[in-house]
Amino acid sequence: MTLADSWEAHSRQWIEWARAPGFDSYWRYHRDQFLALVPPPGRQTVDIGCGEGRLTRHLKGLGHRIIGIDASPSLVAAAREADPSMDIRHANASALPLQDASADLAIAFMTLHDIDEMPLAVREIARVLEPGGKLCLAIVHPINSAGRFEESAADAPFVIKGDYLRPFRFADTVERDGMTMTFHSQHRPISAYFSALEQAGLLVEALREPDIPDHALNSEASRRWQRLPLFLQMRVVRPAAD
Ligand SMILES: C[S@@+](CC[C@H](N)C(=O)[O-])C[C@H]1O[C@@H](n2cnc3c(N)ncnc32)[C@H](O)[C@@H]1O
Repeated sequence: MTLADSWEAHSRQWIEWARAPGFDSYWRYHRDQFLALVPPPGRQTVDIGCGEGRLTRHLKGLGHRIIGIDASPSLVAAAREADPSMDIRHANASALPLQDASADLAIAFMTLHDIDEMPLAVREIARVLEPGGKLCLAIVHPINSAGRFEESAADAPFVIKGDYLRPFRFADTVERDGMTMTFHSQHRPISAYFSALEQAGLLVEALREPDIPDHALNSEASRRWQRLPLFLQMRVVRPAAD
């Protein structure tokens, strides 16, 4: 089963999880930390792996002319239903249904680690960006996906039992407040992302390992995530032609 198939299989769980107000890190702090990296609206923004469209709708509200792309038919249907005026396309990120140089901004928020052919997707993003165009991305931090805390206490040891350097697929089932979600993803070392960006001719101009603000902690034990980054955010640019 591909990662895209797994996301389709869990689409109902994801819609419930993603839309519960204030429930996950997106609502509590991650979206706003990510938006600090995002340039103001320009000619055309593309949201790659838009899911049910929560960030796509928010960016539209901020004035972005936006196209959402996702490989899950059910999530595409949910995004269209939530805002029928939005241009949401069912497509694989490794074959974007967009013209060369047709966008000045691409967003890949919490998606590249969920995409099987990540280097192809990055190459496609570079193709659709105009010279000078930017890609803003957020992923599960590779140190996070490489290991786990031995227990949930604030001072629990974080242990990497397997390989950091070798990619592997994993599934993480999280249960909280009566909701369950299984996240299907691929662990890759940071160098795999930098190699994909390098091959696509994209240059990193900003990198963030966001800290969880105190007000967003939902328990004392969750302070363990103030010791290690949950997420990695970057803004990269397709260099303007000389
Ligand atoms: C964690 S969700 C993020 C959704 C959205 N960006 C958000 O933060 O609410 C990952 C998304 O990547 C999509 N995805 C996985 N593989 C894909 C692929 N090959 N092409 C396009 N989208 C893909 C999934 O369907 C899912 O919607």
